[in-house]
Amino acid sequence: MKSEFLQQLELKYPIFQAPTGSLAGPELAAAVSNAGGMGALALTWTNPEDATRLIQEVRSQCDRLFQVNFVLAFPPKSLTSALDAGVKIVTFSWGDPSPYLSQVRAAGAYVGMQVTNVAGARRAIELGVDFVICQGVEAGGHVQSTSPLWKILPQILQVVGDIPAIAAGGISTGKSIAQALSMGAAGVLLGTRFVATQESRAHLVYKQRLTEAKADEAVLTVCFDGGWAYAAHRVLRNSTLDTWEAFGCPPSGKRPGEGDVVATTASGQIIRRYEDLTPRVDMSGNLLDMCLYAGKGCEEINDIPNVADLLARLWAECETALI
Ligand SMILES: Cc1cc2nc3c(=O)[nH]c(=O)nc-3n(C[C@H](O)[C@H](O)[C@H](O)COP(=O)(O)O)c2cc1C
Repeated sequence: MKSEFLQQLELKYPIFQAPTGSLAGPELAAAVSNAGGMGALALTWTNPEDATRLIQEVRSQCDRLFQVNFVLAFPPKSLTSALDAGVKIVTFSWGDPSPYLSQVRAAGAYVGMQVTNVAGARRAIELGVDFVICQGVEAGGHVQSTSPLWKILPQILQVVGDIPAIAAGGISTGKSIAQALSMGAAGVLLGTRFVATQESRAHLVYKQRLTEAKADEAVLTVCFDGGWAYAAHRVLRNSTLDTWEAFGCPPSGKRPGEGDVVATTASGQIIRRYEDLTPRVDMSGNLLDMCLYAGKGCEEINDIPNVADLLARLWAECETALI
C-alpha cells in the first residue's frame, strides 16, 4: 500500500466500491468493507433521516470503515447527519468541496475528491484533500471525465505526488487493477463491476444484461436526463436510447414516448421513460427500457458473484498480472 493514509484504512485490498446511487445499499457497502475493500453509500439524493438510517444499517452489518459520497451538482443535504452519525470518509464529486471542508475536518473525517484533469488535481492539492479519485471517461453512471483513464492517470499522479490517487473508470478485472497499481495508483474504484454482484440492489435483469454486454454498447449520452439535466452519463444501449437517437436526439418535451410509464416500485412510485433511475430489485415493468448505467468494463463482466468471492478473485488475478 502506497501511503500511510491507506494503511490507516486497514484495507485487505486497495479496492474501493463506487457510490452507485440507490443500487449501493447498506448490504453492498457492508459486504465490500467486511471482505477487506472499501464500501460506499451514495447519499446525494438521500434525506438526512434516511442517511442516518442507512449508515446505521451498514454499521449493524460491519464494524469496518466505509465512505459516503456527495455529488456537488446538488446541495449535500445529508452531510451533517452523515458526520453526526460518525462517518469517517467523505468523498465529493462534480464540484469544489471547499465550502464543506472545515465541517468534515472538524468531524475528524477524511476527504476524497473526484478529479478528472490536471486543473482539478491542482485544486485538490490546494485544498489539502486526503486522496483523489481519478475518473476516466470509460466510467459508468454520470461521467465527469472527458479523458481515457490510462491517459489522464499518469498526468494526475504527477500533479498529486504523495497524495494517494484512486483510479476509476472501466475497471472490472484483476489485470486492469494491476495496470492502475503499476502506474502508481494507490488503489482502484469499481462501480459497474459491483452492480453485478449478489449484494447490489440492482434488479436481476439488469445484472444479467451487464453480463452479456459488449464494451461498444456502453455509450456516453445525455438521454436519461430526468433528475439531472444534461450531465453526461454512460449507459447500455436499449430501445429508449435507440429510439431517441433515431428521432434526432430531441430536447425534453419533444422526445418519443416521453410520458410512458416504464416501471413502478413496490411502493407504487411511477418511473417514466428518460428518468435517471436504474432498475432496482423492488421495481417491475419494462426494466430494460430504463437507464442502464454501465462502464466500458462491462464486456469483462461475465457473472454475478458474491462480493467476498469477487474481491478474492480480482486480487488473485491482480497478483498474477503483477508477477
Ligand atoms: C449505477 C451507477 C451509479 C453511480 N452513482 C454515482 C454517484 O452517486 N456519485 C458519484 O460520484 N459517482 C457515481 N457513479 C460513478 C462512479 O463513482 C465511478 O466513477 C464509476 O462507477 C467508475 O466506472 P465503472 O462503473 O466503469 O467502474 C455511478 C456509477 C454507476 C455505474
